[in-house]
Amino acid sequence: MLAGRSIILGVTGGIAAYKAAELASALTRAGALVNVVMTQAAQEFVQPLTFAALTGRPVHTTLFGPLTSGPIPHIELAARADLAVIAPATANILAKLAHGLADDLLSSLLLAVTCPVLLCPAMNAAMYAHPAVQANLHRLKEMGYHIVEPEVGRLACGVEGRGRMPAPEVILEHIKRIFSFPGDLSGLKVLVTAGGTREPLDPVRYISDRSSGKMGYALAAAAVERGAVVTLVSAPTSLSPPAGVELVSVETARQMYQAVIERFSRYDVVIKAAAVADYRPKLVSGQKIKKTEGSLILELEKNPDILYELGQRKTPHQTLVGFAAETEDLEANALQKLSKKNLDLLVANDVTQPGAGFGADTNIVKLFFADGRIQSLPIMDKKTLAHRILDAVLELRSERNQK
Ligand code: PMT
Repeated sequence: MLAGRSIILGVTGGIAAYKAAELASALTRAGALVNVVMTQAAQEFVQPLTFAALTGRPVHTTLFGPLTSGPIPHIELAARADLAVIAPATANILAKLAHGLADDLLSSLLLAVTCPVLLCPAMNAAMYAHPAVQANLHRLKEMGYHIVEPEVGRLACGVEGRGRMPAPEVILEHIKRIFSFPGDLSGLKVLVTAGGTREPLDPVRYISDRSSGKMGYALAAAAVERGAVVTLVSAPTSLSPPAGVELVSVETARQMYQAVIERFSRYDVVIKAAAVADYRPKLVSGQKIKKTEGSLILELEKNPDILYELGQRKTPHQTLVGFAAETEDLEANALQKLSKKNLDLLVANDVTQPGAGFGADTNIVKLFFADGRIQSLPIMDKKTLAHRILDAVLELRSERNQK
């Protein structure tokens, strides 16, 4: 998969620069043509000679070489790159890229490339947590950069925390994933909801459902792999957010409503895989509810229907996909939700079927299109299904563009 690919490996000035040498070696062994670009600070940690020996290619360190009539280095390198990987990416390079600064070879080159860019931030935990760094990362994700989250562990400064660059083989997996997808969603902004909302009863109890978040997280991961800028609005789950996805954590249906509605107009595609509570307790006790004689009656009041609201606000360029979790009359209920909520596509699962719905790694669904088409899909893992749903979304969008 990597053979013959031209990969820029940008190395910036952090202690994890030594791991970049292993990455350069692994990429070269896999057949990639690795062009290493080092910042001044990176050269304080590792000698360019190390990378030159490992890749068998010259290492680029300066924007201004000897005066010749030859090609301009950053433009020439950028033009033939299939991918740029920045490992480690310091707070400094993230800030420069987020704000378009170009004061050396690497930062100039990053503005000149048109290929995908994978950033591997690595730094001290307090630096990584700093609001300025987080804001820059947020901005970069919004711009469509692929980001490998740093890991939690013991850092070179002796502190435990998030900031450690993942092992080269983990970064290699991310690189392979970027090459394995067609990029057919690039330029699109996709919002996915996932998980089951929690509706509090008192400080220790809540009403929820059996959603694990797997379906929604698979959709978010698949969309990011295909080049979309993805926001995942998630109710509580035990899953880690996919790399490169902007995570917005919510708990209740009303918080999800708020998070989705305020973002909706900025997205091209919205997919609502979350299981949203239709009702919430009317009164939330400030203290733990005590056991008493007899039964306890809870009064519930309605939550807003987020998907219905989106259907009302949808503009012609937006594609709205809903899910339906059914235990009976799948087709009738699905068709009713499709039309009532003004959806382009509805993904219906009979959650009583083994291998379908809540918690499972697989799903069995029927796709209901607004034009009346119905497509039954066999059992498949949720990631494969996520790609099938995204294929359907793209098909709908291209049909609409042709009209
Ligand atoms: O998370 P997993 O364990 O992987 O399980 C996947 C799943 C079963 C949760 C998923 O496949 C699924 O079916 N999600 C939708 C569950 C659901 O709430 O279905 P519904 O038929 O009650 O709602 C229909 C649609 O309206 C859904 O898109 C839902 O997000 C939306 N809705 C519902 C109620 C509400 N108040 N607001 C909403 O937006």
